[in-house]
Amino acid sequence: MEDKLINEINEKTAIVDLVSEFVSLSKRGKNFMGLCPFHQEKTPSFSVSPEKNIAKCMSCGEGGTPINFYRKIKNISFEEAALELAERAGIEIKHKKVKSDPNTHYFKLMNEVAQFYQFNLKNSEKGQEALKYLYQRQMTDELISHFKLGYATGHSDTLYQVLKDKKYAVSDMILLGVVKQADDGTYYDLFSDRIIFPITSPRGDVVGLSGRTLNPKDQVKYINSPETVIFKKGYLLYHLFEALSDIRMSKQVVLYEGFFDVISSYAAGVKNGVATMGTALTKNQAQLIKNVTKSVLIAYDGDAAGLKATDHAIPLLEREQLKVEVLTIPEKMDPDDFIKAYGPEKYEMLFGEYTLDAYAFRYHYYKQGKNLQDANDMKAFRRQVMVMIQNSDSSIRAFYAQKLAHDLNIPVESLQRKKSVQSEPIIPKSDQPKMIDKHQKAERYLIFAMLRSKEAAEFIMKSLKQTDFAETITAAIRLKIENYYEDHRELDINDFLDQLTLEQRQHMENVLLTDMFWTNNIVISTDELSPYIALVKEANLKRRLEYLREKIKNEDNVSDILINERDQIIVLLKHNK
Ligand code: CTP
Ligand code: MN
Repeated sequence: MEDKLINEINEKTAIVDLVSEFVSLSKRGKNFMGLCPFHQEKTPSFSVSPEKNIAKCMSCGEGGTPINFYRKIKNISFEEAALELAERAGIEIKHKKVKSDPNTHYFKLMNEVAQFYQFNLKNSEKGQEALKYLYQRQMTDELISHFKLGYATGHSDTLYQVLKDKKYAVSDMILLGVVKQADDGTYYDLFSDRIIFPITSPRGDVVGLSGRTLNPKDQVKYINSPETVIFKKGYLLYHLFEALSDIRMSKQVVLYEGFFDVISSYAAGVKNGVATMGTALTKNQAQLIKNVTKSVLIAYDGDAAGLKATDHAIPLLEREQLKVEVLTIPEKMDPDDFIKAYGPEKYEMLFGEYTLDAYAFRYHYYKQGKNLQDANDMKAFRRQVMVMIQNSDSSIRAFYAQKLAHDLNIPVESLQRKKSVQSEPIIPKSDQPKMIDKHQKAERYLIFAMLRSKEAAEFIMKSLKQTDFAETITAAIRLKIENYYEDHRELDINDFLDQLTLEQRQHMENVLLTDMFWTNNIVISTDELSPYIALVKEANLKRRLEYLREKIKNEDNVSDILINERDQIIVLLKHNK
């Protein structure tokens, strides 16, 4: 976008009007003042100058020209902000780069659906029961409208009829999963007699819905929209869009497991909460958080599943350079239960007193329930702590190594001598691989790459056969990785190690904890993998060549096929040089 155009957009956007949409301003002399929308404060220091047409916080320094202010407050790109403001100001832009979203039509339909359900909650007879249920759970009208909660009646095709009357295509209703077709060809609504939670994209469009049953005996507590062109659970966080301004002010996201945790916390004054929707946190969700803040507080349920999920989420969030803390909720409750049991004041107190940094949390979690006199528990504990600190800075490593040594009642040096302790011959010496050559190194490198990302794993599995690996143990581990990714998006190293045989684990630990690639935590692109794949293939050819040569030398009646193959391999190897 040209400077001239940018200047024109800024000039034609009145800063006072723009800021007033987000902040209530009052006149002070030549300027206007209000509470800064970018940090928390009690006395106004956000100053808006109509004369200079800029806004700026005297205290935190945030603000800027109309485009910059708008971009920051809406959390959108400069280009998007400029185009939106240009449109408002009636400025024609010839070569619009940002095309209008091809899914606009779907958003409109989903929005219609959410509105219809909202209307039903307040205006239908059965909706009154749903409303009563919500009031019982301490929901207020204000909360219900902020979260746009709704109700789907038990009639099987009400939504379908309404959408049809409004001339929406049945194919779109089906594509978006809100309507289904029965075997007899008739159409019916996905949700029946359920409380509806609309789910928005980070841009604020309704993209999916979740429905909670009102019947405690119902086997299925929640039904969600299926994955659709616009609804991908792993790429969304519940309430992220709605919480944006509170996240900006508190400079933190609180991450929950359930809808009701987000809502009850909101009512209790913690308004910067978001939630995953019944699935483990993904890398993409961690990136969504990173896009809006630098700090995250995990507030998962206090039960065993919640602790495990927390342990899974921490490295994903840390990989995005987020500062991670954990709220530990007593008595295995979830935040919603806790607020119900102890009230909002006690809940707010938890935030100071029951918050741990990610290391302290994991250390306690790994230690919990282990008998540190028991050799297996000792080993498991040590492994978990060593994996936790392997990529950390030296002071954290030193601190937790000390702590671990103390708890295990061993000298701290014995932790550092891990390598020699570990290569005690589980595998008999004679069978151990000889000097690591570049081919073996390549194999190992590929294994690390597979551990680090599913994408790399898939690429490698496509490029190499199981039998291309020379070391049988590596081949076996490769198979386990493949199985692991069948139902996981990300590989949790502790979880994975638990699934290996003792021998495999030993091999992995030696490799994992000693190899530079792993400790340096490099992100690997598939381009980088190709030379290693080529090396493994080359090694395979060389082995075959050696075998053929032996055979040809020792046998009297050698078939031409073998000779041919030998010659082909020689050419191939030469060619690859
Ligand atoms: N969830 C789901 N499908 C289920 C159960 C749960 O998609 N069958 C998702 C929902 O997003 C839910 C979250 O997982 O919010 C956490 O589940 P749970 O703790 O069981 O639900 P709560 O939100 O705590 O609901 P409630 O308090 O009503 O039991
Ligand atoms: Mn709950």
